[in-house]
Amino acid sequence: MGEGTNEVYFNPWDESFRANPYPHYRALLTGPPRMIDGLMPMVLVARYADVTAVLRDHQQFSSVQPRTPLFQRRRDVFGDTPTVLFSDPPVHSRLRRLVAPAFTARRIRDLEPRIRAIAGRLLDDAGRRGRFEVMADLANPLPVMVIAEMLGVPPQDYEKFKTWSDIVIDGDNTLPPEPFPAAVRDALGAIVEYFQAEVERRRKHPGDDLVSILIAARDAGDKLSEAELMAFIVVLLLAGNETTTNLIGNGMRALAEHPEQLARLRARPELMGSAIEEMLRYDAPAQCAVRFTNAPAEVAGVAVPAGSMAFVVLAAANRDPAQFPEPDRFDISRSPNEHLAFGAGIHFCIGASLARLEGSIAIGAALERFPRLRLAAPGAPLAYKGSYFLRGLAELPMDIG
Ligand code: HEM
Repeated sequence: MGEGTNEVYFNPWDESFRANPYPHYRALLTGPPRMIDGLMPMVLVARYADVTAVLRDHQQFSSVQPRTPLFQRRRDVFGDTPTVLFSDPPVHSRLRRLVAPAFTARRIRDLEPRIRAIAGRLLDDAGRRGRFEVMADLANPLPVMVIAEMLGVPPQDYEKFKTWSDIVIDGDNTLPPEPFPAAVRDALGAIVEYFQAEVERRRKHPGDDLVSILIAARDAGDKLSEAELMAFIVVLLLAGNETTTNLIGNGMRALAEHPEQLARLRARPELMGSAIEEMLRYDAPAQCAVRFTNAPAEVAGVAVPAGSMAFVVLAAANRDPAQFPEPDRFDISRSPNEHLAFGAGIHFCIGASLARLEGSIAIGAALERFPRLRLAAPGAPLAYKGSYFLRGLAELPMDIG
């Protein structure tokens, strides 16, 4: 352990740490990765160069959750079925090739009118009520309605998905090695049961939806097994919803707290693309990725023993002054802005362009609809949801009148 270790505080299970982890990241960024005590050896990786190195080195830093009792509960979620998110090559390469056809640029572009229509309807409802609570009225429902649309399931079923995915993400906050609460198991069971019926339906009547594409996906004679298909749908519901919700919520908060940036964006809507990148950098919806070592490893000269867990703190790397001048300044035209909010290397987010599209449509439409949009209670503390890994507001009330 190097100098300065004492001032480092990193505890995802502490509510006050979760409320504002950024001051703690500042201490982490002053030195090389640090080993910390925990239920297993753990290394905190925060500097931009170190985070990039770990994400690009899947030989030393694996995405496969170890087969120890501590992670049993995680494995239970998918049984022994590998998923893109929790696998290494060659398994990962195979799965990624098989699911890639569902995320082509054309398929994402084709969703644009539907996303606009959904955002417009949600904002109309808020306008009629005369109140705008960003999370409940826009950020929570929009991504899950878009996924429902992609999966080709009835739009009204989105509420079920939302309930299930909220329960599962809340389980994120279960302190290991506690088992997942029964509610989480029930919710996962419900997702699988729902989609088993959908897969059956699509086998008989294929369409142009994501489930049908995944059923049909083939690569040199290879295809997804039924269990792999199910596991991927669960990953999509979990990885694709809450993250995009939090991009919209965290992004709106950052804009509202920087009125001069909000005014710039209103005056120059063509800055929306770079504004979204800055929102992702400034307050990353996925704060941290996790990796595991199966053999003695090394990062930035620090020895990491076999059997360690690496917290790869994407949100800290995004505030590294060695990469971003004035990292704590929110600047919607920051350039260059090679942030790590979507990860890096072979696991780079497959839904990044969809998330960017949803974020810019949702935030752009809200600004257009409500020309006087501002925080309802400036300076009042805002509560966050339970998960550290997926950082998102519980509520964000804004005034529109
Ligand atoms: C702002 C929104 C989003 C953020 C911040 C985000 C962030 C991330 C990050 C950091 C990773 C890499 C994890 C790792 O290396 O361990 C990842 C992977 C992934 N994301 Fe996203 N994501 C977002 C939206 C989406 C959407 C909309 C979808 C799908 C509809 C999606 C699907 C996935 C999948 C399937 C992976 C696994 C890819 C792989 O392992 O090869 N994400 N995401």
